Amino acid sequence: MASKKSSTVFYCQECGYESAKWQGQCPGCKSWNTFVEEPVKMTSSGKKVSASFRETGRPVTLSQIDLKEEARIKTGIAELDRVLGGGIVAGSLTLVGGDPGIGKSTLLLQVCRNLALRQIPVLYISGEESLRQIKMRAERLGEFTESLSLLCETNLDLIENTMRAVKPKVAVIDSIQTMHREEVGAAPGSVSQVRESTNVLMQLAKVEGISIFIVGHVTKEGTVAGPRVLEHMVDTVLYFEGDRHASYRILRGVKNRFGATDEIGVFEMCASGLSEVANPSEYMLTGRPQGASGSVVTCSMEGTRPILVEIQALVCTTNFGYPRRQATGTDFNRVNLLMAVLEKRLGLQLGNCDAYVNIAGGIRITEPAMDLGIALAVISSFRNLPLDEGLIGFGEIGLSGEVRAVSQVKQRVLEAKKLGFTSCMVPQVCLKDVGKVEGVKLIGVKGVADAMQYL
Ligand code: TYD
Ligand code: MG
Repeated sequence: MASKKSSTVFYCQECGYESAKWQGQCPGCKSWNTFVEEPVKMTSSGKKVSASFRETGRPVTLSQIDLKEEARIKTGIAELDRVLGGGIVAGSLTLVGGDPGIGKSTLLLQVCRNLALRQIPVLYISGEESLRQIKMRAERLGEFTESLSLLCETNLDLIENTMRAVKPKVAVIDSIQTMHREEVGAAPGSVSQVRESTNVLMQLAKVEGISIFIVGHVTKEGTVAGPRVLEHMVDTVLYFEGDRHASYRILRGVKNRFGATDEIGVFEMCASGLSEVANPSEYMLTGRPQGASGSVVTCSMEGTRPILVEIQALVCTTNFGYPRRQATGTDFNRVNLLMAVLEKRLGLQLGNCDAYVNIAGGIRITEPAMDLGIALAVISSFRNLPLDEGLIGFGEIGLSGEVRAVSQVKQRVLEAKKLGFTSCMVPQVCLKDVGKVEGVKLIGVKGVADAMQYL
């Protein structure tokens, strides 16, 4: 029997670490001030709260496992299929995270619509919107068929029963923060509720073979348990990101038990839902200024796909004693490091300059191959010399100012060619891998000093 003393426990909201007493720093993930007090799970009633999934209860050999139903279900949205690793795996549990209002419900309703059009039974469970509100959204998205059923419910025990009775192929839970089980005394959205609900859903997914999508909101305040807690419980974690003020959205795979994790999907929010952006490079480069200094195009590999992005830098004299540095869309520390390399190896007087570096289009990229692009943009802005508009540059920069090799150079060069660029600045060591590319002049550079010659 739980004594009065241990009737509450403390959970870390970041990683779910459990502790008997409050602690300032989480021993699990080392984050500060993340512990919240919650009632302990009720196990005294004899009912086991934590569900565990088991299929046969006895060990089997690999050859005894039947795989014929494991074929992936295509969602009808190619960008999403790519991030999922080729489609939805039967019985998988997928978490779709992102800021409120980014488009999670819209995307999943579109998936439901596409599946229902192919007569695949789907169940959309909302704990956030009423049926009328869902219908209003659905009307913007187009025709729906009778294979889609909707349910407004937040009680997970009822949801479990419904799912077992209806047996949909795919189900959506929108959102996990609104779901609760009565057995767990805590409020919906608390760490123990979120963990418990996910446990139940995992069991449903694995045993009944239902593919379940879970929507999770990420909040900064820390009042609602972040989906971080769930990340290690689910099979696949997708994050929806993007600037809320711009119309495009990026779906990024963070974890995937059935595919690669570095893939991204690019979408645009339109009046009738999310539409796919098949050629992200073209999209990212729209509105590029003509003949402006500090603007350089570079190429980053996102999964299997090369994406061209514009890097903008603004370097100007500091008005106050302490120079201001800012990086948007890329790693701030990396920008500082590159500026230090330029200062030391090229003798540029950047120490008394403010510097702002921005990846245009709001996409976030941290691949080291961007280094050369960032360096060129900073030099171009510092010298106030615009670069040739037909040039792109990529390569990793080392601390001695050398330009180091990057992967898939040929693919990046071909992408640049496709979008009408005429010259590519690449690491010298990669020149022989690329060979000749018709219509594109390849410029091999050994170090930042070589690169500066081309300005
Ligand atoms: P939503 O899917 O409700 O976000 P989430 O579930 O992640 O909280 O997206 C809401 C936003 O999308 C809202 O600002 C309105 C916009 N939107 C469109 O621009 N077009 C549309 O067709 C739909 C359905 C929504
Ligand atoms: Mg929503």
